[in-house]
Amino acid sequence: MNAKAGALPDINLEEFRKVVRSRRSIRRFKDEPVPKEVLDDCLELATLAPNSSNLQPWEFYVVKTPKLKTKLADACLGQNAAKTAPVLIAIVARPDTWRENARLALEEWPENKMPSIVDKYYRKIAPIHYNQGPFGVLGMAKKAAGLVVGLSRPVPRGPYSPNEMKIWATKSTALAAENLMLALRAHGYDSCPMEGFDECRVRKLLRLPRKGLVTMVLAVGKRAEDGVYNQQYRFDQSRFVHYL
Ligand SMILES: Cc1cc2nc3c(=O)[nH]c(=O)nc-3n(C[C@H](O)[C@H](O)[C@H](O)COP(=O)(O)O)c2cc1C
Repeated sequence: MNAKAGALPDINLEEFRKVVRSRRSIRRFKDEPVPKEVLDDCLELATLAPNSSNLQPWEFYVVKTPKLKTKLADACLGQNAAKTAPVLIAIVARPDTWRENARLALEEWPENKMPSIVDKYYRKIAPIHYNQGPFGVLGMAKKAAGLVVGLSRPVPRGPYSPNEMKIWATKSTALAAENLMLALRAHGYDSCPMEGFDECRVRKLLRLPRKGLVTMVLAVGKRAEDGVYNQQYRFDQSRFVHYL
């Protein structure tokens, strides 16, 4: 047993397959609440998603109060999933919290002694790697340096701009979103990820931080009988999977 990772549990592959295969995007929900304990557990499992440098660049805004939920459903373009779901969760990427979270990482290391390489990473490397400087000038300088040094050896090719920081944060946040959807399914609940929303209205309604990006709004609840609109299908695997 690895003392740092704990004992590996036995996994029931068929149960995992059931969770993944039965997750569908649900467009109509039953008028039934989702218990707080279920939401709390699913959100905790969501934040166990892998994420860049463990800087956890995400936030979850859980909306249950009817008045606010009605307004948010409206900002989700009145989609049925949003209108019928008892809970809506705005899943927000934070390209701007890396500095604060690097500080937290230094404070909250779970073992007695932080390895010096980790200490150096959060103290020295992350502030260079993620800081793009005013108007992105530092990012541009890093990109130019990377182009030169990269001629002779492998170098990181980004993030080199505020826009690349948005992608950086969104990648990790989308992984948390998938964990959340699967956790809900494992609890017997369902979801619908939505990018069909008016971002300006969603930001204003939820009073989101200025640099937060709404990656998705997730409709959450128990699926209604007519909640699945069509059979699930995917294109042939040969289009997507390339063994090299
Ligand atoms: C980023 C993202 C945005 C989506 N936006 C919407 C949306 O606004 N409305 C909606 O009904 N479904 C939305 N979906 C759900 C997709 O339509 C759905 O995942 C896809 O059709 C496959 O169906 P399945 O999830 O049931 O397998 C979205 C999914 C993702 C991942």
